[in-house]
Parts: sequence; structure tokens; C-alpha cells
Amino acid sequence: MKSLVLAGGSGTRLRPITHTSAKQLVPVGNKPVLFYGLEAIAAAGITDVGIVVGDTAAEVEEAVGDGSRFGIKVTYIRQEAPLGLAHAVLIARDFLGDDDFLMYLGDNFIVGGVTSVVREFQADRPDARVLLTRVPDPSRFGVAELDADGRVVRLEEKPAHPKSELALVGVYLFTSAIHDAVREIKPSGRGELEITDAIQWLIDRRLDVRTTTITGYWKDTGDVEDMLEANRTVLEGLTPDVLGTVDDASQIVGRVRVEEGAVVRGSRIVGPVVVGAGTVVTDSYIGPFTSVSDNCRIHDSEIEFSIVLSDASITGVHRLEASLIGRTVQVTPAPRVRSAHRLVLGDYSKVQIAS
Ligand code: DAU
Repeated sequence: MKSLVLAGGSGTRLRPITHTSAKQLVPVGNKPVLFYGLEAIAAAGITDVGIVVGDTAAEVEEAVGDGSRFGIKVTYIRQEAPLGLAHAVLIARDFLGDDDFLMYLGDNFIVGGVTSVVREFQADRPDARVLLTRVPDPSRFGVAELDADGRVVRLEEKPAHPKSELALVGVYLFTSAIHDAVREIKPSGRGELEITDAIQWLIDRRLDVRTTTITGYWKDTGDVEDMLEANRTVLEGLTPDVLGTVDDASQIVGRVRVEEGAVVRGSRIVGPVVVGAGTVVTDSYIGPFTSVSDNCRIHDSEIEFSIVLSDASITGVHRLEASLIGRTVQVTPAPRVRSAHRLVLGDYSKVQIAS
């Protein structure tokens, strides 16, 4: 069995972060989202992995290399434009041959891996198996409609009026039957060859399409809120350790990981927090669910529930929350504008004014 990982496309919803870089490489718990997927694929015993890449090919290739660090062998497949998930299958035909394969969307984050669903597929080998999960906002996803027996009858991509709350998770298992489908379907209204249409093509021809509904944690890390939530989940399982230097004037509370070469001086860090290698934190507060990547500078600032990418610097900022700070970004306070307060206060009032 092979795997096809999709790491092309353009991350419009994570812009401006992904103007310059691949959305699949935005770190969660200081590790690119894509790496969790590759680790899950390797854990399921699949070693032959094709990665579909687009404009950000160089960056993805540099990060993943030949795959040996994950215990897999990677073949890169260039997609000239993000023409759809089914288009990615179409152009991967030479790599896939007639083998069964696991298709994995490189921006999906699943806790618990894919081993059990891969085993299930290998045991019963339907023409396709898709993963579903209940979501509160199905119109953001592909949505499955099941009949009374729980068989999938219809798949719709981002419907305005979803027929169910069952979203398609970005993990699909296919036999070679899918190749006929991706050749036959036509581009959708948004100009893409949709994998939902290809699977519908199989359903309409009465091929065996089965579903597995997962209840574990899953996120399509398409927007900032999703990234922060996935980051929170990873940090909850963080192994605390101080490999860098923390001075006596600093206080470390809870699950905190300070990577090698990182320096913490005169600061309070309340976990779960990870501080990346080479990062320097001085006279600052870093609060729960924050990942600071490598070689950042945080000085005289407060930050909480955020992701800071490498080489960023934050100075004199009180305070940052629920933020995604890109690479090499500099955050500083705005110059102070003198503001006047006009007050009519009764006798003995007490007021607190932010100044
Ligand atoms: O995350 C689950 C959802 O993923 C499913 O519910 C939807 O049915 C499915 O269409 C997909 O929707 P998205 O809108 O989230 O897909 P997105 O455009 O973000 O692409 C998913 C991944 O595939 C991402 O890593 C980029 C990559 N990609 C995408 C396209 C369109 C490619 O490599 N090539 C492409 O042509």
C-alpha cells in the first residue's frame, strides 16, 4: 500500500502567513502540521509516500527531504496549479500505479493516527473508505449524507445547506477504482476536480464505498483559530524539560519545555508552553498554550495562547493573546498618543484608568 500526501494548494485562509510559505509547514507545538501526518503514515506501516507539491515545493522538499527521518521514502509530484484534490490523484497515477493508497491532506491534524483505519481497509478492501466526523459547522467541509442503514448515498463539497453534520476528514482510502472516477469527472463550480465528485461517481456506479466515523480529535488547520486549537491539544501532551538556561529570577510553572540553547531571564512562564531552541525570553510573561519557535526574541512582553514562528521578535508588548506571529516578524508598541480623559465623578468615587 502507498500513500499520497497533498501539500500543494494555496492557503488563502491563513494569509498573510502563507503568502510566503506552505500552510502545511506552520508549526503546531513547534512541529510542522505535515510532520504529524507523515509520522502517522509511517506508524501505519506505509513507507512509499508521494507528496504532491505546488508553488511552495522548495520549502516542503527542504523540510521533509527524502523522508528517511520519518522512516519513509518520498517521491515528490509537482502539481502546476491547485486544480483540486482529484486532480492531485490524476497527476499521481504513475506513482500510484494500481496499488491501494491512503490519501492524506497535509494540513489535517488527527490525534490517534490512522493505523486502525488502514488495517480495517486492508482487511475488507472496499473500493473506497472515507473518514467522517461530526462538526458544528459542516458547510466548511465536504459533507456526507447516509441512508437508514448508514451507507453513504451522497457527498457534497461545502454545501450551503448541509444534509448532515458529518464532515469528510482529510483521510481517504482508495483502491485503483478511483482512477476511472478522477478521469471521468468535470471541474466543479469553483473550477476544481473535487474528490467528493470522484467518490460520488463510485457511489453512483454502485461500487463499495464505506465510511468510518471518528470521534477523536481532528482539525483541518485551515484558519488561525484551528491552528491555535490544534496547538493547544499538542501542548496538553507536552513532555516538560529544561534543556536551555533559566536564571534564578525566572519562574517556571507547569508543563514547560525550554529547548536547547534557549535562554530565559527574569521571566515567568506558565505552561503548557514550549520555547524553541535559541530563543531568548527576558523580563516577560508567557502564558498557557503558547508555542514559541526557534531563535525568537521576547523582551518586556506578555503573550498567551499564541503561536510565534521562528526569528520573530516581540518587545514591550502588553499583551498578546490568540495570535499567530509569522517568521521574522517584529512586534513593538505603537508610539504613545497622549489621550485626555474627561470625567464627571461623584464624591468618593474610585476609578481605574489605563494609562
Ligand atoms: O480538511 C477536510 C476537507 O478538506 C474536506 O472536508 C473537504 O471535502 C476537502 O475538499 C478538503 O477541503 P479544503 O477546502 O480544506 O481543501 P484545501 O483546499 O484546504 O486542500 C487540502 C489540502 O490539499 C491542503 O494541504 C492543500 C492540498 N491541495 C489542495 C488542492 C485544492 C493540493 O495539494 N492540491 C490541490 O489542488
